[in-house]
Amino acid sequence: MAGFPQLRLRRLRRTGALRKLVRENRVEVGDLIYPLFIIEGKGIKEEISSMPGVFHFSPDRLSAEIEDIAKLGIPAVLLFGIPETKDETGSSAYHPQGVIQQAIRVIKECVPELVVITDVCLCEYTSHGHCGIITGGEVDNDKTLPLLAKMALSHVEAGADIVAPSDMMDGRVKTIRQALDEKGFQQTAILSYAAKYASAFYGPFREAAASTPQFGDRRSYQMDPPNVREALREVEQDINEGADIIMVKPALAYLDVIRQVRNTFNYPLAAYNVSGEYSMVKAAVRQGWLDEKQVVQEILTAIKRAGADIILTYHAKDLARWRKAE
Ligand code: PBG
Repeated sequence: MAGFPQLRLRRLRRTGALRKLVRENRVEVGDLIYPLFIIEGKGIKEEISSMPGVFHFSPDRLSAEIEDIAKLGIPAVLLFGIPETKDETGSSAYHPQGVIQQAIRVIKECVPELVVITDVCLCEYTSHGHCGIITGGEVDNDKTLPLLAKMALSHVEAGADIVAPSDMMDGRVKTIRQALDEKGFQQTAILSYAAKYASAFYGPFREAAASTPQFGDRRSYQMDPPNVREALREVEQDINEGADIIMVKPALAYLDVIRQVRNTFNYPLAAYNVSGEYSMVKAAVRQGWLDEKQVVQEILTAIKRAGADIILTYHAKDLARWRKAE
């Protein structure tokens, strides 16, 4: 084996073309999913203060945004709903005329080929802000399952291509799979938020989705951040229950989890570059402390390098625009 001076690793870094030739990872616009916040009402397009550049849209204001997303080459969107009314059981989540059900129809009319993924979780729809039904002050796993299945089914009936349960109840993937199959939706895929941690990086999202729990926190159902072996068990459970795509969330502080899941399972793997990760970058860029384009590309590449095939990110439109301008 030759060493220095015959061996010089700098040889292949000399020019941009050489670096491109030996580049190991590249984020494609086709890898991205763009999250959208849909608010019940009319004529609304309002910037979310904690997430500059991200907006609340009412269903009637969606079409221009959807056309823009499709033109940029982004293949998929993930929908979150903010309903007008909330109650103990989150019943506006599975109403056929609910805000997400309306939005799906608008999107499918506007750009039928855009992949529509819906977040399946009750927290935006319950008055207490928890991801399930409350019994005796606790989130009741088994009572929540049929409601999640009902919600998923109503999204699919409205035209969703993929449902994405994010509630972290045990058995939700199985219950949703059964409910979809019974109604003839065998071809509809499930993207499960398999390893979802109880993270402070969801802060800006909770403001955007008005889904902060009114008492307690989510630590009895979302994962404890120090654990990684448990993440593999969560992923295994969801795969056994019928998940088609698995997700690790958040992404940046959990790159090691993404890598371990990648090495252990041969399933398509998604990672969620969450709201807090986005807002930190935006805040520093506003201060003039970071170069947005470079930092965003570095972050998304790191998530890819850790092993994610798919990245859910609020930076999707920016990345797509930069790529178009290259
Ligand atoms: C709903 C849900 C959350 C996010 C996605 N789905 C919030 C939470 O669990 O509190 C977070 C997304 C983000 O921060 O960008 N359960």
